Amino acid sequence: MSEFIEVKNIEKVYERKIALSSLSLSIKKGELIALIGPSGAGKTTLLNLLAANLSPDQGEITIDGQLLAEMTDQKKRAKKIGIIRQQFDLIGELPVIHNVLAGKLSEWGIIKSLLSMLFPQDKDDAIRALTRVGLSEKLYERTSALSGGEQQRVALARLLVQSPEIVLADEPVASLDPARAEDILALLVKIASEENQTLIASLHSVEYAKRYFDRLVALQDGQIFFDLPSSSVSDAQIASLYKLKEQE
Ligand SMILES: Nc1ncnc2c1ncn2[C@@H]1O[C@H](COP(=O)(O)OP(=O)(O)OP(=O)(O)O)[C@@H](O)[C@H]1O
Ligand SMILES: [Mg+2]
Repeated sequence: MSEFIEVKNIEKVYERKIALSSLSLSIKKGELIALIGPSGAGKTTLLNLLAANLSPDQGEITIDGQLLAEMTDQKKRAKKIGIIRQQFDLIGELPVIHNVLAGKLSEWGIIKSLLSMLFPQDKDDAIRALTRVGLSEKLYERTSALSGGEQQRVALARLLVQSPEIVLADEPVASLDPARAEDILALLVKIASEENQTLIASLHSVEYAKRYFDRLVALQDGQIFFDLPSSSVSDAQIASLYKLKEQE
């Protein structure tokens, strides 16, 4: 079976700092992957490369056999890759429904996008998505009036409306309290499984990574330290993954 995402021998250097080196990774469609590793290991850099926000200095990334660097059509790329961030990227002053429908912006033409600022277009899609994340009653609420956990649900609803094949999440729950964090993570993984999305999320919590994800890709100093099914990762491996950095 051919791989869905292929990261081949990537190197990324910032000024003189090597953020990632000789990194290769194959990912199948529908896999749920947690990226773990100490601060500065290269998790955000890898996610930014996968999102095509950065380009590698060496190596290449292909998705479905196509070079990511050549996927320049925004509309097509938005159907392939969706991103969820720690800071949610919502417009606080707007009602929830507008933020959810922003998931469609890349697919809509300019007229429809402008119209949607005044009159929500494809409202049913937004209602359906908000119902799935448990926020159907907050449709017209000002987004900034919602709690952090609720705002992250709005961001998940926006992702549902965008409906990409791949979801990249950089510490998606870092700004939430532990109970809320687990809630959101469980929902993110549930949606990804139901939609057969490929999910790659960086996490600081190894506990959550093991509980919710099938596969752990551990980075250390810009390289893969281990890449294993969650169930087979030992406490000793986790300890040596994080220990090295603490001694610096
Ligand atoms: N814009 C930049 N300019 C220079 N160096 C950078 C830049 N971004 C990241 N780096 C360096 O590249 C390395 C990898 O950073 P990256 O942000 O990918 O790590 P991370 O694993 O996401 O860390 P964290 O867990 O703290 O988020 C680090 O040494 C970092 O200092
Ligand atoms: Mg990071």
